[in-house]
Amino acid sequence: MSADTTSINRTLHRFHDQEQLWLFGYGSLIWKADFEFIERRPARIRGWSRRFWQGSHDHRGTAAAPGRVVTLVADPGAQCSGMAYLITPAVFDHLDLREKNGYLREVVPIEFCAGGASEGLIYIAGPDNEAFLGDAPDAAIARQIARARGPSGLNRDYLLQLADALRAMGEEDPHVFAIEHELLALGPLTQQ
Ligand code: BEZ
Repeated sequence: MSADTTSINRTLHRFHDQEQLWLFGYGSLIWKADFEFIERRPARIRGWSRRFWQGSHDHRGTAAAPGRVVTLVADPGAQCSGMAYLITPAVFDHLDLREKNGYLREVVPIEFCAGGASEGLIYIAGPDNEAFLGDAPDAAIARQIARARGPSGLNRDYLLQLADALRAMGEEDPHVFAIEHELLALGPLTQQ
């Protein structure tokens, strides 16, 4: 599959009949809401784990030196915390472009941390997209992140902002925190 998923997402879900819908953010959407929203709520989804397994050529890296950003992998029994945003369908005009590098929208059940639930959308970059990198040792992922930068900034800032945002929400994510730990152990060495 081509890494540019913009047109696929626009064909998949049109939302003509809905004035508002929930979007669940588990990565940069937790702290970078550069779109209008009606309301936001801490939330979780079940059966998915957040992983730094997606390559970033367009935001936190380049084609020559891709960074790593998060996607979700199916993981029965797991849960992934994040932030749910109540938005209008028009917001997808912006988000489909912002998240075009391999991410497809999918409908999932969302549970709000304060109670209640709703269906909503997530963006997932699966193993069949060209930018998918997959698993690697935490230290290797941290080294790649430490060296990468792209039009949206340093890859290390993406990781540190995600870890900080999760801590601020009182959430644990052993994968994210382990890579953060490895990155910080590298020191300030590695910007090219
Ligand atoms: C998210 O925060 O949910 C997200 C951000 C970028 C791409 C896909 C998902």
